[in-house]
Amino acid sequence: MRDQAWRLRKMVEEKVFPVRGRARVLAVTSGKGGVGKTNISVGLAIAAAASGIRTVLLDGDLGLANIDVLLDLHPRKHLGHLIDGEASLEEVLIDSPGGIQVLPGASGLTRVADLGNVQKQRLLEAVARLVEEFDLVLIDTGAGISRAVLDLCICAGEVLVVTTPEPTAIVDAYAMLKVFSTEASAPKKWLVVNQVLSRGEAQQVSSRMIGLAQQFLGSEVNGCGSVLLDPRVRASVRRRQHFSLAYPSCPAAKGVKEVAHNLGLAGRAGSHGFLNRLKEIWIGDRSRPRERSI
Ligand SMILES: Nc1ncnc2c1ncn2[C@@H]1O[C@H](COP(=O)(O)OP(=O)(O)OP(=O)(O)O)[C@@H](O)[C@H]1O
Ligand SMILES: [Mg+2]
Repeated sequence: MRDQAWRLRKMVEEKVFPVRGRARVLAVTSGKGGVGKTNISVGLAIAAAASGIRTVLLDGDLGLANIDVLLDLHPRKHLGHLIDGEASLEEVLIDSPGGIQVLPGASGLTRVADLGNVQKQRLLEAVARLVEEFDLVLIDTGAGISRAVLDLCICAGEVLVVTTPEPTAIVDAYAMLKVFSTEASAPKKWLVVNQVLSRGEAQQVSSRMIGLAQQFLGSEVNGCGSVLLDPRVRASVRRRQHFSLAYPSCPAAKGVKEVAHNLGLAGRAGSHGFLNRLKEIWIGDRSRPRERSI
């Protein structure tokens, strides 16, 4: 049966809207809820932005969007307004701490499949502009194997699966990897282990999952590190300031930076960061970032 993702891809191929595919698009997801997707997405976005990568973070948790809460943003308009034609992309994007742009989500939008054609077209056009205007589009998704989450991940092209060392989270992450492996155009898969007690524990979980995916799913999964269980994370959530800004040298912040580095988002320049810096040096355009048309 031809699914939603297939139709979206077809629209892209047929140039129904102008995707030029500049940005790298990475969706952050998990099988089990509450494993740390949103905290890790925000941390990766901040780390990438600190490396000069123009980054937008899209709250793709269509059921329970909460990046705005985590970052103490007070958006007047969100994805729902954009989809309903009540706000433009300029009106919904918010300048956020850490030099990132956030596109706040709309809670309660549980079924993308229920959107009308005009709404879907607006959503696609918005994503197309993000892809064109930014170097990195990070998408924080909801947990679990819903069609909406799978579509976002498949269209992104790269997916970061978050798990914790808890058996329930591991089983659900594996189920997620299994579903991806059965999709016609499977995304590139990365794995991060969050809330670990030690690097040894992370290594154990990660190599076991990568081995199982290889053996039973014939699927390549790339480990990209781990983040320690760190009380500063919870404290930062309460303060509504991300831990990588509130406590930049805490163990969790160091872990997220390392994950960003392993994903090629920070610590060393991605191609766009490299080009921008080269332009700055050669053309001397240090004073202002490239003007955005949105
Ligand atoms: N490395 C960590 N150390 C300690 N606590 C953590 C860590 N990562 C996440 N947490 C805690 O777990 C809770 C859930 O995190 P978060 O909201 O990022 O998860 P999520 O996967 O996005 O959840 P949901 O599935 O509901 O969207 C947070 O309130 C935070 O306090
Ligand atoms: Mg979340």
